[in-house]
Amino acid sequence: MTPMDLRGVRVFPGFLDRAAQERMLEDVRAVARAAPVFHPVTPSGRKMSVRMTSAGQFGWVTDRKGYRYEPRHPDGQPWPAIPASIREVWDAVSGWDGAPECCLVNFYGESAKMGMHQDKDEADFAAPVVSISLGDDALFRVGGTERKGSTESVWLKSGDVVVMGGAVRLCYHGVDRIRFGTSTLLKDCGRINLTLRVVT
Ligand code: SIN
Ligand code: MN
Repeated sequence: MTPMDLRGVRVFPGFLDRAAQERMLEDVRAVARAAPVFHPVTPSGRKMSVRMTSAGQFGWVTDRKGYRYEPRHPDGQPWPAIPASIREVWDAVSGWDGAPECCLVNFYGESAKMGMHQDKDEADFAAPVVSISLGDDALFRVGGTERKGSTESVWLKSGDVVVMGGAVRLCYHGVDRIRFGTSTLLKDCGRINLTLRVVT
């Protein structure tokens, strides 16, 4: 499949068909049963609009102590393993000869969004970031590696896969909003984004 180019970010529209999305959703539900989703707080004390959990050796967390990776869920349990259905996407598109160490799971409700940011809590930026969209459409915005400057956006749909690697590994990106109810994948609507990263 030839990706679309969004300022160097590669977008694979419709990478997962409906059946693959449904299988992955079941796997995400199992992750959320083992590692319940929580409502994170930024270091400055603001509640994020997304709810999150993780799978893998490390989970990404944020609270008053800062943004970081932790080997355990806030409840003290290790994170569940990254499901094979998700790992297979990494193997297919990352071009990286190693495993992802974190699968961050973000749940977007009707008014959730994600401000422009860089993924930079990892020890090394050589490996790409791979992200998978499930559920409602999301307006995904991409800029350059500086906070200032122009941006471009694309509506991501359920089953789309995005790869940020190489020169754009540290590009600013975010989600302006979702279009609630545009997908029938999730029973109660909303969106799930899965972000795969090498952490150490
Ligand atoms: C993120 O950058 O953390 C999320 C991106 C997305 O939801 O598509
Ligand atoms: Mn990000």
